[in-house]
Amino acid sequence: MLEELSALKAAALTELTQAASPAELETIRVKTLGKKGSLTQILRGLGQMNEADRTTLGAQANAFNEEFALTLTRRMEALKQQELTQRLTREWVDVTLPGRPRSPGTLHPVTRAQNEIIHLFTAMGFPPASGPEVESDWYNFEALNIPPDHPAREMHDTFYLPPAPDGRKRLLRTHTSPVQIRVMEGKQPPLRAIAPGKVFRCDSDITHTPMFHQVEGFLVDEGVHFGQLKGLLEAFLVQFFERPLPVRFRPSFFPFTEPSAEVDMGCLFCEGQGCRICKRTGWLEVLGCGLIHPNVLAHVGIDRERYTGFAFGMGVERLAMLKYGISDMRALFDNDIRFLDRHA
Ligand code: PHE
Repeated sequence: MLEELSALKAAALTELTQAASPAELETIRVKTLGKKGSLTQILRGLGQMNEADRTTLGAQANAFNEEFALTLTRRMEALKQQELTQRLTREWVDVTLPGRPRSPGTLHPVTRAQNEIIHLFTAMGFPPASGPEVESDWYNFEALNIPPDHPAREMHDTFYLPPAPDGRKRLLRTHTSPVQIRVMEGKQPPLRAIAPGKVFRCDSDITHTPMFHQVEGFLVDEGVHFGQLKGLLEAFLVQFFERPLPVRFRPSFFPFTEPSAEVDMGCLFCEGQGCRICKRTGWLEVLGCGLIHPNVLAHVGIDRERYTGFAFGMGVERLAMLKYGISDMRALFDNDIRFLDRHA
């Protein structure tokens, strides 16, 4: 009996040390100390034994019981500790790693310049207007006093589209001036608007891209004269470039304005001394403008004897390039994130 007990003890203790998880330990505990456990049965049998046997075996059994309980607790602690260490290794996070920065988006320089132009003119009382990018010949040319065989059409390098179902000629607008016609038709003065938008010309080099942006503005009322146009555009340029600037109006030609002028401002880069950017002239051309041609007013049913108006148009890319110091216009359309970040 004694031998049996010590074999049992040796086996149980070995099993405890080899158990690999708290669940296994529990199984061994039940097997040894549970209701039908091996040690439990021996302890139960003590009652039927004689005095001498009971004393020796009882002492041994109690010692087994104590050692078993102690080993079980230690082993349980060890396994829990091991489990914790494993989890800590598995779930380790290097809190000293630098974060992954997410840079916020920025507005494109052309968008920023366009927003600024619109902001300044709406503040001066011009409500925003828009028109379609696919235009008819009438709005883009004829209503603007450019008849079919007029030589001025050659300045425009037009992209033509297949004709509309009703046979009308369709094209990508070459300027924003057709919006003047769309705002004026069917209405009577006083009229005014500011119209930003994309325009298209078949042209590409360092100062031209086939798509670019213009902002058109116009005003029609009684007694409108060139002096008002001049004052407005000078005020606009000074505010847009945020500095006092010399501005000059140079006679020019547009079929839809008479008289017409091109507006130059003193070169921002050489203060009028003459440099590469202003082609040694000291001046930068920034706008086209003039008094609206009476034929244009007549085309939209406005009394050309009673009313006069002025109109102006500007290239947004050109103004953005001058304001932000960008030398190649194509960089505005390359979507190179380094360029865009630099001009954010
Ligand atoms: N539409 C002209 C252009 O694209 C600019 C302009 C607009 C000139 C209005 C005069 C008046 O060149």
